Amino acid sequence: MKPKIYITRKIPQVIYDQFTEIADVRMWEEAEIPVPREILLQEVRAIDGLLCLLTETIDEEVIRQATKLKIISNMAVGFNNIDVSFAKKQGVIVTNTPGVLTETTADLTFALMMATARRIVEASDYLRNGEWKTWSPMQLTGRDIYGATLGIIGMGRIGQALARRAKGFKMNILYYNRARKLEVEKELGIEYCDFETLLRRSDFVSLLLPYSSEVHHLIGENEFKLMKETAILINTARGGIVDETALYHALKNGELWAAGLDVFESEPIDLESPLLSLPNVVTLPHIGSASEATRLKMAEIAANNIIQVLKGGQPLTPVKI
Ligand code: DGY
Repeated sequence: MKPKIYITRKIPQVIYDQFTEIADVRMWEEAEIPVPREILLQEVRAIDGLLCLLTETIDEEVIRQATKLKIISNMAVGFNNIDVSFAKKQGVIVTNTPGVLTETTADLTFALMMATARRIVEASDYLRNGEWKTWSPMQLTGRDIYGATLGIIGMGRIGQALARRAKGFKMNILYYNRARKLEVEKELGIEYCDFETLLRRSDFVSLLLPYSSEVHHLIGENEFKLMKETAILINTARGGIVDETALYHALKNGELWAAGLDVFESEPIDLESPLLSLPNVVTLPHIGSASEATRLKMAEIAANNIIQVLKGGQPLTPVKI
């Protein structure tokens, strides 16, 4: 009998086709609507492999239900949606998609820095709303990126890729990371500093660390008080790292100059969120890795992880905890 696979969202046909020879595949056919929890709980009952997205919470309840499950393959580098320790306890392998989305996510992070500092979205709306009457000396003035100080929190692959881009803009680069990375410091000419010093000195603070309960609201009221009033916060990691209520107040009260956000505490963000009423916030719908080529590579790795394991081999990119 062929093994069974469940895919929690419509994926490109070329990727889907790779499964059909080796397994019986079922898929949630919607592209824009996540699979309802009760359907997921039904579907996982007899499966051997699960391909899921960051929108699905794969917790103890789901894993217990899936008594034959061998692998949970997340189509994302982040895996905070999965209870990895419980999966491990149950002997279920968890995999993610590191590496292939590094450059694409660093591009988007840099794009958000530029869009926020130079008020690109606000300026575009200004023109389209018919507010542009003349050229004026201080109209829509922003902040320089070239030569500014960038503080990167989290010096993994994407942090390093961002630092490489920032070098081209002659930025002065500081970083904070759980473990100091001497080789990377030497290679990229970046400076390690403690968390508070980074917040105090940076013109841009970019969050590029993995999310866990330990870093929940790492950036909140106290941290905004440490940051420069002219600073810009960029979050392309996970929404839960920032206390959004404190962020709103900091932006509103002039404690922080602007924010560029690709991720939110709750996604999709509630359209009533006060953050969306502020002109100095650039918001995106979690598109850090969204280039055609990268999303295809992510799907490909996610699929190959399942195929390898179901054929009795080793996963390509296991999550190690
Ligand atoms: C990830 O991979 O974790 C991103 O958030 C989506 O690509």
